[in-house]
Parts: sequence; structure tokens; C-alpha cells
Amino acid sequence: MKKKALIFGITGQDGSYLAEFLLKKNYIVHGVKRRSSSINTGRLDHIYQEPHVKKRTLILHYGDITDSLSVTRLIKEIKPNEIYNLAAQSHVQVSFESPEYTANADALGALRILEAIRFNKLEKKTKFYQAGTSELFGLNEKTPQNEKTLFHPASPYGVAKLYAHWITINYRQAYNIFACNGILFNHESPRRGETFVTQKIIQALCKIKLKKQKTLYLGNLYSKRDWGHAKDFVRAMWLMLQQKKPQDFVISTENQTSVKNFVNIVAKKLKLKIKWRGKGINEKAIDETGKTIIACHTSYYRPLEVNNLLGDSRKARKQLKWKPKFNLDELISDMISSELSGYY
Ligand code: NAP
Ligand code: GDD
Repeated sequence: MKKKALIFGITGQDGSYLAEFLLKKNYIVHGVKRRSSSINTGRLDHIYQEPHVKKRTLILHYGDITDSLSVTRLIKEIKPNEIYNLAAQSHVQVSFESPEYTANADALGALRILEAIRFNKLEKKTKFYQAGTSELFGLNEKTPQNEKTLFHPASPYGVAKLYAHWITINYRQAYNIFACNGILFNHESPRRGETFVTQKIIQALCKIKLKKQKTLYLGNLYSKRDWGHAKDFVRAMWLMLQQKKPQDFVISTENQTSVKNFVNIVAKKLKLKIKWRGKGINEKAIDETGKTIIACHTSYYRPLEVNNLLGDSRKARKQLKWKPKFNLDELISDMISSELSGYY
């Protein structure tokens, strides 16, 4: 019998790669999509064209992680072997603008799924993956960060994810649910949302190169992130649910780069010659003709910043036998070539 997976957040970056990954492993994949005024399945539509997805192996349902009834009903009807909770308001800066909604979706969303597993008496059948984040480390700048590093979240998003992290552990301990937290560092891809900094930089510099845009506006150029490829990271999610016992794992590339250096790498790959001038909010990059092509703008600074993220993923590398296939250079090349070809 084929295994059944249920993915909350299937229309997002990770959800789409995870769906592809599980379909290749012969799962029947159920996914939850939200009703929206314009079509939100753009990251999935190509899957239906692939030969191994001919029969009804990818099934989408309407639902919402903030709606207990839909969550409970879907879990009751599908009785999945594995549930992946990737659904979230996932933008850190937006969480300062919509803190209550972020808490409802990102914190209580995990609780709703766990409680539905229990309510439907699926504790022995259904394994649960919770999409945790390196944002949990927040203001704790002691790097590298691993499973034993103290959490100090620095945004409504981080605080909501802290609740989800602990409720996952609580249900594992109280009800013996096979529930795991992945503490994933930043991961990107051609399917990355356009308002996250990597995709924003790549799309803007490609347009500037093609003379379709004049200036890219950014916020803090000096925060450092450990950026990997989403394709590698969804493999780790699945591996966590295939272990003998449920545990939590940090997933990271173990390499760190600043936003400014990320810009420099992209510019170099696109053969855009830039020179940096000024400091703080007045820092900018000019091109060979002296035109400003990158500038800072206050609207992209956050009320509180996470400056320094670098993961220590030795536990995952040892126990899951996981390691990333993409390095930063390959990730950026993949994103640039997809952007220039207009295809992902
Ligand atoms: P993403 O592209 O923003 O996808 C988020 C998904 O959640 C989308 O499918 C979105 O639906 C869905 N969603 C949002 N609110 C929902 C709601 N109320 N009910 C149901 N679905 C809802 O994020 P991602 O980068 O794939 O990340 C996946 C998960 O991993 C998120 O939980 C994120 O917080 C976490 N995470 C991400 C990273 C990273 O670097 N990418 C690192 C650590 C943890 P729509 O398509 O309709 O918006
Ligand atoms: N988005 C954005 N836009 N970020 C900018 C900009 C800008 O114009 N300019 C500078 N930054 C800085 C942010 O202040 C932050 O320090 C860094 O670039 C990365 O920002 P994002 O790409 O928005 O990602 P994030 O690190 O805040 O959050 C992502 O990674 C988390 C894991 O650490 C998201 O995917 C979260 O969902 C995820 O949990």
C-alpha cells in the first residue's frame, strides 16, 4: 500500500519541492491550499504534467491552518501516515505588522494539527513534522547554533514558532506522537517568495542588467545568514520522519554570508561592476557610470534585527546521513538562471 502524506503549506516554496520529492518516493500526496482571489498553485501546476503523476497521486484540498474544523476534518478523512506542517505566515518583517494573525497561524496552527491527530486517535499511525526555524535563536548571537543553543526569538514570527516548537515536544512526550521539529536555517530556490532578500536581490539585479529597473532598495546589509537550497532541506524533513524515534534536528549548510556579500556575488555573476559608497542608511552601490543602482531605505529595516545566524548541523549529518548537495555559489547560479529563463 502506498503511504499517504498530508502537506499543510503545499503551495509554498518548500511545500512544492516536498510534494515533488514524496511523489518520486511513490507517496500519495494530499495538500491543503487556501482559497485566494487569484490562483496560488503556480509552484505546483507543472507537477501534473509529469508522467509519474498521471493517476490521482497529488490531491489538493481547500482548508486553512487557522480553521480547526477544516484541519480536523481533513486529517480524519485522509488518515495520513505523515503530516508536514509547513503552513505559516513566514515573513519575519510582516509578523511585526500582523502579530496576532502570525501567532494564530504559526503557533496555534501546529497545535490544531497535533490535537486533530489525538482527537482522531491517530497517535500510532500518523507522524508529524513541524517547520521550525533558526529565527528561534534570534538575539542569541553565539554561533554556530545547534539543538542545544538557547532560544531568544526576536520577532512575533520567532515567538510564534517557539510555541509551535514546544507544543510539538509536549505532544510527543505526553501522547507518544511521532513528532519532530526541524530547526531549519534559511533556504532559498528559484521558487523563493519575491519579498525575501535573496530572491529580491536576484530579480532586481537581473532587471537592472536588462535595463528594466533602475534601483534596488534594501534594508540591513550587514545581517548574516546561513543560506542553503530548499531542495536539500525538504529531503531532511522526510529523513526525520523515517528514523526509529522522533527527535529534533538543526539543518544548515554551516556556511555564512552577509546580505552585502550576497549582493556582490550576484552582481559579479551578472557582470555588473558595482562600487560601494557611504555608510548606514546612506550606503549605496554605484555602477560604472556613477548611477546608484542599490540604495538603503528605512522601510526595509525591522524593529528588531537578527544579525547572526550560522548553523551547526552535525547531529543531522551523523544521524540522518544528510548533507547539502548545493553550495551558495550553486544556489545563486540556479536562482539566476531560472530568473533569466523565466522558468522555475
Ligand atoms: P512560504 O513559501 O511562505 O510558504 C508558506 C505556505 O504556508 C504557503 O503554502 C502558504 O499559502 C501557506 N499558508 C500561509 N498561511 C496559511 C494558512 N492560514 N492556512 C494554510 N496555509 C497557509 O514558506 P516556505 O519558505 O516554503 O517555508 C515553509 C515553512 O518553513 C514555513 O512554516 C516557514 O515558516 C518555515 N521555515 C522556512 C525557512 C526558509 O528559509 N524558507 C526556514 C525555516 C523555517 P499561500 O501560498 O496561499 O500563501
Ligand atoms: N526581506 C528583506 N527585504 N530582507 C532584507 C532586506 C529587504 O529588502 N534588506 C535587508 N534584509 C535583511 C533582513 O533584515 C534579514 O536580516 C535578512 O536580510 C534576511 O531576510 P529575509 O530574506 O526576509 O529572511 P529572514 O532571515 O528574515 O527569514 C527567513 O528565514 C527564516 C529562517 O532563519 C524566512 O524564510 C523565515 O520564514 C525563516 O524562518
